[in-house]
Amino acid sequence: MRYLTAGESHGPKLITIIEGLPSGLPIASSDINQELSRRQQGYGRGRRMQIEKDTVSIASGVRHGFTLGSPVSLIVENNDWKHWKTIMGIEPLGESDIEVKRKVTRPRPGHADLVGGIKYGHRDMRNVLERSSARETTVRVAAGAVAKKLLSLLGIRIASHVIEIGGVKAAPPSFQDLSELQLITDKSPVRCFDERAGTQMMEAIDLAKQNGDSIGGIVEVIVEGMPMGVGSYVHYDHKLDAKLARAMISINAFKGVEFGLGFEMARKRGSEVHDEIRWSEENGYQRKTNRLGGLEGGMSTGEPIVIRGVMKPIPTLYKPLGSVDIETKEPFFASIERSDSCAVPAACVVAEAVIAWELAAAITEQFNSDRFEVLKQSVDEHRSYSKGF
Ligand SMILES: Cc1cc2nc3c(=O)[nH]c(=O)nc-3n(C[C@H](O)[C@H](O)[C@H](O)COP(=O)(O)O)c2cc1C
Repeated sequence: MRYLTAGESHGPKLITIIEGLPSGLPIASSDINQELSRRQQGYGRGRRMQIEKDTVSIASGVRHGFTLGSPVSLIVENNDWKHWKTIMGIEPLGESDIEVKRKVTRPRPGHADLVGGIKYGHRDMRNVLERSSARETTVRVAAGAVAKKLLSLLGIRIASHVIEIGGVKAAPPSFQDLSELQLITDKSPVRCFDERAGTQMMEAIDLAKQNGDSIGGIVEVIVEGMPMGVGSYVHYDHKLDAKLARAMISINAFKGVEFGLGFEMARKRGSEVHDEIRWSEENGYQRKTNRLGGLEGGMSTGEPIVIRGVMKPIPTLYKPLGSVDIETKEPFFASIERSDSCAVPAACVVAEAVIAWELAAAITEQFNSDRFEVLKQSVDEHRSYSKGF
């Protein structure tokens, strides 16, 4: 399975084309819209999120609620396009509008502006920021929603939550099952299970905003019900942990990843890190602990996958850092685009989507079938084989 995204932040629309989905997978626009709406919520977002109410239209690959096996294309209109028709016009400029409006010549440190401008020769760096903007993650969430649907029908559940913002750390959550975690965090404006920490996180966001600054944080994605042995110890490029790490880092502003105990492992002994194996008739192979976060040798162990990603503070600052105007080479403050002061809660939903995608892609690759029904049978058979192994 693979997908391609297209679209500029203030262009007419965002598009993704998904290739390789099996036929017979039930999917409805509502499955996708629900995820798009989760991405748009969150304390600390700028005005853009009030303008846009993202909804998807499925333009191909689905008939009467089921995938056909052909490419599935998803389109999200940018409601703000009407205000940007001239600035982001598709057709060549006429004589009268030679003056390009909202030209960007003062690159923002930490964004793609300067390096992207040099790479593609864009002296108006709007040509860079329109694509490097995290608006693109809208359609990644749409693709992830399709992946989540596939996983859920295979008995694989996925949830996410924010565990840190601006130095405020949440207490570890305690929940019966993932749906409880998701229910509670979906109600929190910062997607945090720990209500007290959530309030402090909002205060930290307010403070950053008042100071014209931004803050980052850490999100955690948890996956339950993964069959054992998905991924590979044989080929480096099929290792599941490597694929998940790449997916996490591919999210705009994500700079680090850890699994299970993560970087804490560097300070522990082997006996405090590895997970002892046990077996029972009822449950097959299980671990006494899950400190490795559900992955061994590049494969899923069957225990919950626990992966965290760190997001740096957003680069656009209302009190901008020093930069240079590329027209004059004079020192100037960086340009200001309409911006969030903290997007960690929204990024948490993006993280869930990209992880869901990677897992669905790995499963469809391993239990390859053109028909969802057969894929499901293979996964079920593999589960009972693993249990009795
Ligand atoms: C959900 C989300 C929202 C974001 N919103 C903004 C924003 O409003 N302003 C901004 O400057 N960067 C924002 N970013 C981060 C930039 O897109 C990112 O820093 C930029 O593309 C440069 O890439 P890099 O940080 O990965 O190097 C956001 C990221 C995510 C995941």
